[in-house]
Amino acid sequence: MTGTTVDTDFIHVFEPGSDPARRPLLLLHGTGGDERDLLSLGRTVAPGASLLSPRGKVLEGAAPRFFRRLAEGVFDEADLRQRTDELADFVLLARERYGLPAPIALGFSNGANIAAALLLQRPEILAGAALLRAMVPFAEPPRADLTGKPVLILSGALDPIVPKANAEALARQLGESGAAVEHRALPAGHGLGQADIGLLGDWLARN
Ligand code: MLT
Repeated sequence: MTGTTVDTDFIHVFEPGSDPARRPLLLLHGTGGDERDLLSLGRTVAPGASLLSPRGKVLEGAAPRFFRRLAEGVFDEADLRQRTDELADFVLLARERYGLPAPIALGFSNGANIAAALLLQRPEILAGAALLRAMVPFAEPPRADLTGKPVLILSGALDPIVPKANAEALARQLGESGAAVEHRALPAGHGLGQADIGLLGDWLARN
């Protein structure tokens, strides 16, 4: 059963899972994507998991995003803080409505960046996160206690949007907050490939 609704103030899809041992996934798309973008990836890497997939509410032209940016890689951090709280509250409402435990975020690009912001600003919301082509979201990150939370960062060594040092800084920030970070830099650009899918599936089977 699949439905698209707006009553928790985010257009979203919820697909109930068939395997209660699997954590639900919170799927967060990239710029210009929508709530359907990552469904098939989610089904592939976490078979049987419930999938909760909202559409970002900020429009850049016609392209949905999860928060505003001033330029590529330069974020409107006041907006980011507010949108992070909105998304966190949506997750709480959706958990109540659908009867879910805390999800693992699976975010790509802009979606990975707001997932990193969720970890740092509202750490109680996520059980963990897989961050695909993510950047440091806050110039001055809030102090979070992420003790033991599993985080996978898959960056692209040839990514023209996320400099290598930025992905490394994100891994360091999350690790210093106590998260159990695994960071892999793949011989890839900003787009995802088979290597991402394999690593994601393995990591999710362990977490
Ligand atoms: C962002 O704006 O979140 C990053 O630059 C990634 C992107 O969406 O292009």
